[in-house]
Amino acid sequence: EEISLRDVSDFLIGLVKEAADIILDARPTTNTATSKKNTADIVTETDQAVEKFVQEALSRKYPTFAFVGEESYKSGVRITDQPTFIVDPIDGTSNFVHGFPASCISIGLVINRRPVVGVVYNPFQEELWSAVQGEGAFTQRANHPRQQLPLNNTPLQGLGPACIGIEWGSDREGPNFELNLKVFTTLSRTAATGGRFVNSLRCTGSAAITICRVAAGQQEAFWECGCWAWDVAAAWCILAEAGGLMVDGHPGNWRPPIDNRRYLAVRPAVSGQETFVEEFWSVIGNDRST
Ligand code: IPD
Repeated sequence: EEISLRDVSDFLIGLVKEAADIILDARPTTNTATSKKNTADIVTETDQAVEKFVQEALSRKYPTFAFVGEESYKSGVRITDQPTFIVDPIDGTSNFVHGFPASCISIGLVINRRPVVGVVYNPFQEELWSAVQGEGAFTQRANHPRQQLPLNNTPLQGLGPACIGIEWGSDREGPNFELNLKVFTTLSRTAATGGRFVNSLRCTGSAAITICRVAAGQQEAFWECGCWAWDVAAAWCILAEAGGLMVDGHPGNWRPPIDNRRYLAVRPAVSGQETFVEEFWSVIGNDRST
């Protein structure tokens, strides 16, 4: 049976808005969060409730599709070629428990391990991003008309003038952490002190929202080593449909798999994308990581 990706997208847009009520009704605090691996890796009852709600709705509507969600994920589970929903019920859980209004529900559909539908919704700012493969990407804010992405695709002029979203992830030791640290310090330091500083670095606590901002052209790039498919699947579709690039965090791989765990997203631009990627890769060098 032919799948209508547009229908899937319409369904997901309705679903994230319903799920948003669970998030908006919650009163989380830093004291009600539970640590998973460490205090940088947390979960709340709301993450679990949203995931359950979304999973049940998706399995009723699309019973043959596979499901991978952050909170129900079991180590070792592989994403297959089957149509698979990849869900982060709350991306930006740390922001959520602090009341910092940058968290979202992120639902991606991947087929043959490639993102084909993406819906990301930040209920605190009523900001929605969505895309369907081959049909472009859109954003909508409360009381504003829907806009097609990108909002900006002026030429990229290398790292110097760039505003780059960089996330730390939850590792605080080991090769992923060391590489994130290296990228951060190199992009902060002057050439005289061994770096190549950029206009600005941003760490806003939600990989999905940051990639959507890159898709819009509001930031030049997003970098993280150590995040997971559910952090990027939906936003990846939005980025690609807007004309942005998602490449491997390591030099040479222009087409990373969905579960690469190491991502560099570059904004849409009429020119300069490849040069930008090469410049960024030269900062990374041959460091190993995930
Ligand atoms: C986290 C956020 C954060 C990123 C972490 C993710 P969560 O997702 O996307 O920006 O740095 O790697 O785990 O845990 O809030 O869903």
